[in-house]
Amino acid sequence: MELRNDRLLRALAGQPVDRTPVWMMRQAGRYLPEYRATRERAGSFMDLCRDADMACEVTLQPLERYPLDGAILFSDILTIPDAMGLGLYFETGEGPKFRKPVRTAEAVSALELPDVEHDLDYVMNALRTIRTELNGRVPLIGFSGSPWTLATYMVEGASSKDFRHVKSMLYGNPDAMHQLLDLLAQAVTDYLNAQIRAGAQVVQIFDTWGGTLTTPAYLEFSLRYMEQIVAGLIREQEGRRVPVILFTKNGGQWLEHIADSGADAVGLDWTTELSDARRRIGHQVALQGNLDPNVLFASPAAIRAEVARILDSFGEGSGHVFNLGHGISQFTDPTHVDALMEALHELSPTYHPV
Ligand code: CP3
Repeated sequence: MELRNDRLLRALAGQPVDRTPVWMMRQAGRYLPEYRATRERAGSFMDLCRDADMACEVTLQPLERYPLDGAILFSDILTIPDAMGLGLYFETGEGPKFRKPVRTAEAVSALELPDVEHDLDYVMNALRTIRTELNGRVPLIGFSGSPWTLATYMVEGASSKDFRHVKSMLYGNPDAMHQLLDLLAQAVTDYLNAQIRAGAQVVQIFDTWGGTLTTPAYLEFSLRYMEQIVAGLIREQEGRRVPVILFTKNGGQWLEHIADSGADAVGLDWTTELSDARRRIGHQVALQGNLDPNVLFASPAAIRAEVARILDSFGEGSGHVFNLGHGISQFTDPTHVDALMEALHELSPTYHPV
């Protein structure tokens, strides 16, 4: 099928574009009243993820409002541990929880690789439905959590501030930790390849918690497994390259290592300047980011100024995908996102001279 807007794929490949492409992490979600309405109809969050038609509906909602250059599958990173039998549930206002956290070496040994095509068929069904509905409008982005980020939720059993349990395992029983991460790397590889076969045209690995590690621990327990995944992915489908974006939140200090991972692009949060990043790695990979999501709480004029600053920081040429430095907040006013889009459309073409 013909892709009518390939700006995102072109920027990820460093090829010329007419303006800087944009999508937003968590672009479908609670800040949109139409999302809240569909979510209400679905029942629980996981019911929404499991229903291909409703998952498709919310995936497309932000595209109806904003001139985005990519759609991201509506799902969650915690579908893999859920498929491994940990019993995922969401307590209102408290984030995700697992009925059976993995706290011991015995619990790690008892885990089995999920059969992604069977146990996560609802994700592939959603992707196929979304591809049909998109009808070539923009590329579809698939995603997964990184092994380390999935392990943090699996061992902690919930969101955590101090990572007490998962770091106890990392420092106290590194063999068990490696066994868990190895299993997760295999599961994520299978999962992303199934997503690509089901129609994902770009994939992003979310390493939300890699930035909580020491440098040697990051390299050994997070990056190494992401490299293993990247090496095992399908890189071409439907005659086009399937780019991989690697996003380690707070990972700016390891940029050179991440750029060497085999990924096509590195996602950056707002704590790393794009100009510094570009000075450090040049055009080795594309860069994605990096508006602080909190900027969207300010006035349209302030939003415009930050968009201008970020475009200028990356500078002239392709290889930049505009995004937030992390997911959009549920408290964002949707009209402020219009200000972001307008600024980007007005200001970015000058950075792409013909
Ligand atoms: O970007 C998109 O539009 C696609 C959808 C998406 C969701 N979660 C939907 C969601 C994506 C890409 C994710 C990834 C995800 N999920 C991450 C990695 C990215 C990041 O933000 O760091 C993580 C760590 C999770 C785990 C997770 N899922 C948490 C911590 C929560 C609770 C968040 C909260 O604000 O309460 C979820 C639930 C979740 N995932 C929601 C959405 C829209 C909110 C659930 C609801 O509607 O009640």
